[in-house]
Amino acid sequence: MEISRAAGAVAAAWLIGQGAAAEQPSAAGDPAKGQQIASQVCAACHAADGNSTVATNPRLAGQSAEYLVKQLTDLAKPAGDKSGRENPVMSAFAMTLSDADRRSVAAWFSAQALKPSLARDKDAAELGQRIYRAGIPEKAVPACAGCHGPTGAGLPVLYPRIGGQFSEYLVAQLKAFREGSRRNSVPMQQIAFRMTDPEMSAVADFAAGLRSK
Ligand code: HEC
Ligand code: HEC
Repeated sequence: MEISRAAGAVAAAWLIGQGAAAEQPSAAGDPAKGQQIASQVCAACHAADGNSTVATNPRLAGQSAEYLVKQLTDLAKPAGDKSGRENPVMSAFAMTLSDADRRSVAAWFSAQALKPSLARDKDAAELGQRIYRAGIPEKAVPACAGCHGPTGAGLPVLYPRIGGQFSEYLVAQLKAFREGSRRNSVPMQQIAFRMTDPEMSAVADFAAGLRSK
């Protein structure tokens, strides 16, 4: 009795061990499979290494893998989902990916080196820097640096990199949070509700010019 129970426990432990081993590669994502998906499907808009050259298509290189998986999951939610993110172009692509594909493609893009954008609007630089570092205290807008990091590199795993991203894309996201087509972050929605268009443009341009080593 005792012996067979012990044997059973050993067998169960072995089975659990096998299961964990079998699931590990897909849990972390397979970057080789991700590279294949990236070059076949995503490259047209994001470039095969995630350094898109079109300002409406975000750069994915160097972004946290967990954040990328979350976005692909949220973009694939049905229209009207309370915690979803809607985009006429990207939602359709996100829906075609399995969970394992999302992890693999995220592992590939997160491992690529970012070729960052430049800040362009010198007139707004001071306002942008002030909002980024100190927030807008009179409107209870917190400093972006608190969650996105002093150099914009993000604080892994779920605070994304915004440093070096296209300012046009960053502004589009702030407006999407404010106007409700992106509903996947309560803190970002609350922040965006309190910001004007000129404040959004200024801080996005500043973030685009941020560099992390
Ligand atoms: C036809 C162009 C197009 C293709 C192809 C495409 N995307 Fe996108 N992608 C976009 C656009 C446009 C956005 C910005 C959506 C928005 O404004 O919310 C985007 C956004 C994203 C985001 C959100 C990034 C962020 O910073 O939040 C991820 C992740 C993403 N795409 C991954 C992929 C992957 C993976 C593939 C390939 C399977 C892919 N995309 C294929 C156009 C495309
Ligand atoms: C309390 C933490 C917090 C603060 C403060 C904060 N953010 Fe965010 N931000 C987030 C989180 C979390 C996300 C990712 C949301 C998600 O999961 O989709 C995000 C996402 C974003 C995105 C979308 C990035 C992308 O690739 O699509 C932009 C743009 C952004 N934040 C700008 C800002 C700006 C500008 C400020 C300062 C005015 C700011 N954030 C302050 C937490 C914060």
